Parts: sequence; structure tokens; C-alpha cells
Amino acid sequence: MDILVERTADVLTIAFNRPDKKNAITAAMYQTMADALVQAQGDASVRAIVIRGSIGIFSAGNDLEDFLKQPPVGEDAPVFQFLRAISAAGKPLVASVAGAAVGVGTTLLLHCDFVYAADTATFSLPFAQLGLCPEAASSLLLQRVAGYQAAAEKLMLGEAFDAKEAQRMGFVNRLLPAAEVDAFAMKQAQKLAALPASSLRVTKQLMKRAAQHELRTQMTEEAVHFAKMLLAPEAKEAFNAFFEKRKPDFRQFD
Ligand code: COA
Repeated sequence: MDILVERTADVLTIAFNRPDKKNAITAAMYQTMADALVQAQGDASVRAIVIRGSIGIFSAGNDLEDFLKQPPVGEDAPVFQFLRAISAAGKPLVASVAGAAVGVGTTLLLHCDFVYAADTATFSLPFAQLGLCPEAASSLLLQRVAGYQAAAEKLMLGEAFDAKEAQRMGFVNRLLPAAEVDAFAMKQAQKLAALPASSLRVTKQLMKRAAQHELRTQMTEEAVHFAKMLLAPEAKEAFNAFFEKRKPDFRQFD
């Protein structure tokens, strides 16, 4: 199974488990994660959620082959179900990043409450490099957390940056040795699970409520552009270049 959904007492863990493809996320994987998050929302016995990768890799982001074969169409596409579910999650979400987090691998972190990363983890948002545009409301959330210029640099150039920089930008709470990050994230989730669920629920609601409408509007607008750009020649060139292990040539397009 490419996504493992596991229970340890009252903590639910959602783990990427497709290491041979660097945990690239297919439509089926988005669906499994969306379903797990929605189910957890209605299950009082789940008191905190951990999202983690596999050894040495968090996620290479959207599966590019899957995107070419079955581009997400309409708001019920699994990727959009997942993004809605993670952005609306009422339970505490703790992320453990022990490796590369690419594209949605990084943008999903902007919806988590706590993010712990290995000091060797890397992050990147190569949307423009792929002929695409930001998703998961990252065009709004990243500049809010890091400031406009820092967000613009990461979203427009798309170059990978290290865990120290991610922490300085403000979306990583703490850096740990790679071998310790999963256990630490679990420990934090267990602490949260022992606290009054109602207090955590209301705290999250109060912190997130004001921005929720704006976030939804941004995510919808991003999705309209993203879906169109996915079918455009720039994205085709970028995706083909990735699989052919060559540099894309964007100068052929206006
Ligand atoms: N979609 C589909 N397949 C992917 C993938 C993706 N996003 N990322 C990696 N893979 C596949 C590779 O094609 C390769 O498959 P193969 O063994 O059948 O050839 C395998 O996973 C290993 O990837 P590789 O690139 O050799 O690993 P690496 O350790 O050198 O680099 C990454 C890891 C994550 C830095 C690199 O794979 C990468 O940049 N991936 C693309 C990320 C991306 O653009 N994501 C989309 C964001 S919107």
C-alpha cells in the first residue's frame, strides 16, 4: 500500500509508503489520505494526526506521470478532496519531514499545526519550473508566514532550500537529527492527544477561522489556473524533460 494509515492508541498516522518513486503522490494516494482525514474528523477516538514520509524521503510531490495520464478535473478530483480535508482538519496535525519535500510535499505542511524536520530535510516548490502555478493556497499562506519576497523567491525560482532556511521562514517548528524526527513528532502528537480535545479544537478554530474564507477562495482560483496549465505545452515540455532526464526548453514558448 502506497499510503499507510495506522493507529497507535489515539494517534492516527498517515505515512507515505512509495519509496521507489520517492513517495510521489498518485490520485489513489490522495483519495486514501482524504478519506482518512475525513474519517478521523468524525471519529472521537482519534485525538491527533501525524503525517510522515518513509526513510530518507518525505514526498516528491504530485506523481508527474499520473498527472499526465489523469489530470485532475473538477473540484471532486482526489487532490482537491485531500487539500480541502487537510485545510479544514479540526484535529491537531503534526508533520514529520525526514527527507525531501517537493511541491505539495511542502505546501501540505502549511496546513499542519506543528512541523518537525530532519536537519538534512530539503524543501522545494518547483511549480514554475514545471509550467504550473502554486496550489494548496500556498500563494497566500507562504507569503503570510515568510513575507512576500521570501515566498516569491521560493515559488518563482522553485529552487530547493534546506531545513534551516525553512525554519527561518517560519513553517518548521524544530530541527532534529533524521533518525529522531518521527519519534519526536509522535511524542508531540501523544502530548496533544492527552489534552482536552475541545480546547484544541476551539484553539484551532479561533486561529484559523478568520483566514478560512480567503484560503478557500485562493485554493479555488489556484485550482482553475493549475488545471489549465497542466494541459498547456509548457507543462508537457517540463514533464517530458523530467522523464527524459534533460533540461526543459521554455524559450520555445511566448
Ligand atoms: N512523479 C513521478 N515519478 C517520480 C517523481 C514524481 N514527482 N519523483 C520521482 N519519481 C520517480 C523517478 O522517475 C524515478 O523513477 P525510476 O526509478 O522508475 O526512474 C524514481 O522516482 C526515483 O527518482 P530519482 O529522481 O531518481 O531520485 P533522486 O533521489 O535522484 O531525486 C527528487 C529525488 C525528489 C529530488 C527527484 O525525484 C525529483 O525532483 N522529482 C520530481 C519532483 C517534482 O517535480 N514534483 C512535482 C511537484 S508539483
